[in-house]
Amino acid sequence: MTAFSVATAAYIVAALLFILSLAGLSKHETARQGVTYGIAGMVIALVATFILVVDVSDTLGVVLLLAAMAIGAVIGLARASKVEMTGMPELIALLHSFVGLAAVLVGWNGYLQHPSYGLESLERIHSAEVFIGVFIGAVTFTGSIVAFLKLSARIKSAPLMLPGKNWLNIGALAAFVLLTIWFVIDPALWLLILVTIVALALGWHLVASIGGGDMPVVVSMLNSYSGWAAAASGFLLSNDLLIVTGALVGSSGAYLSYIMCKAMNRSFISVIAGGFGIEAATGDDTDYGEHREVNAEETAELLRNASSVIITPGYGMAVAQAQYPVADLVRRLREKGVEVRFGIHPVAGRLPGHMNVLLAEAKVPYDIVLEMDEINDDFAETSVVLVIGANDTVNPAASEDPSSPIAGMPVLHVWEAENVVVFKRSMAAGYAGVQNPLFFRENTQMLFGDAKERVEDIIRAL
Ligand code: TAP
Repeated sequence: MTAFSVATAAYIVAALLFILSLAGLSKHETARQGVTYGIAGMVIALVATFILVVDVSDTLGVVLLLAAMAIGAVIGLARASKVEMTGMPELIALLHSFVGLAAVLVGWNGYLQHPSYGLESLERIHSAEVFIGVFIGAVTFTGSIVAFLKLSARIKSAPLMLPGKNWLNIGALAAFVLLTIWFVIDPALWLLILVTIVALALGWHLVASIGGGDMPVVVSMLNSYSGWAAAASGFLLSNDLLIVTGALVGSSGAYLSYIMCKAMNRSFISVIAGGFGIEAATGDDTDYGEHREVNAEETAELLRNASSVIITPGYGMAVAQAQYPVADLVRRLREKGVEVRFGIHPVAGRLPGHMNVLLAEAKVPYDIVLEMDEINDDFAETSVVLVIGANDTVNPAASEDPSSPIAGMPVLHVWEAENVVVFKRSMAAGYAGVQNPLFFRENTQMLFGDAKERVEDIIRAL
């Protein structure tokens, strides 16, 4: 048996393991199993690739491959062991940018070192593969870098509003189609340089034009783009596993983006087209009046007299790592006969399922953790709502102010409760950069400070 057929067989096994991994990851109970399948698939794929390289290249090639694997493994292990849960989306965005960059390099290499096929039609297919691969890769590369910068708060999350921004995007896409046809007929170097520049600018602009509130969709969309970029590289390198894996990542990322858009009442096309149709928000200089403050002892008193409590956690709970005292507070209140439940917004925090993971970590029983749709009608009959580090996901402007940048996004109707206590450190806006009128409502009181410390103060007062 040749090394090539061993590798091909191994690639099929790896592809099947990746499919099983995706299936496993779709449910809580089988998620761990899914991760194990994914790791096994990746190990097999790496070993098979190694065998293939040893078979076809000289010592220098093998040394280079080993060096690349070692450097990648060291960086990967170091980053993954250090990353905080809240830093996951930005790390993922950065990793997507590597996939994009790799696709650009593979494309350029395919152009500079391209084998002679002898047949004109095959030459043209090769040219198209190079051009499309470089385009998708470059869009993914810069798009992911902007997403990384926005998610890590290194640049503002507000949407960039260049004049005629939609026409810029459409113009870049039209230019890509025309240049592709031109390149297939005459594969000149300057065309490849031009498409690389256009795609780098388009990726940057697409993500820069998307507002903070829509970032979850952007991350899954870039996930999808990185899959298509990998698939394009697979065609160029004649690597079936890369094609299959790229297509799996590409289509599952696209589907996740679609599900998220539905959950956030956003148009899928509008988000993937870089906020197409979203107009610049007029600066919010509305005077909402004065906010009221409350302290931990008064909050404890409020809770002692409550019959039902709903906790709506958000990103701030993750930052403060307040899930453990929150779980403790819930246990104590339930022992006193107070009905306590959680209301979880689909994009609370910074990654899908973020709040559920934190609460599961702190051993909060699953049956009191409800999704937004399951609990939204119950706020009106609730004595106290504790908003712990959430902001955009409880902003009434989303449903009441059509000019708000987050208008139309479904939110938790916390303001309908009798009393609302908001835990945060200041009056600062949330991730989308939008002021929250909830903080100025008559039934709302602000409990300032780090969420973990404040919850611990309440436990002491109880
Ligand atoms: P955010 O709107 O991000 O607000 C979090 C609030 O927590 C902030 O207003 C902050 O106020 C407060 N906070 C931060 N650290 C705190 C601490 N140590 N103690 C107490 N409070 C603290 O939260 P959200 O309601 O969860 O909304 C999530 C946002 O992120 C949405 O806009 C969503 O679209 C976006 N997003 C979500 C995802 C996914 S998939 N979930 C991915 C990317 C982006 P102070 O600074 O005043 O304390």
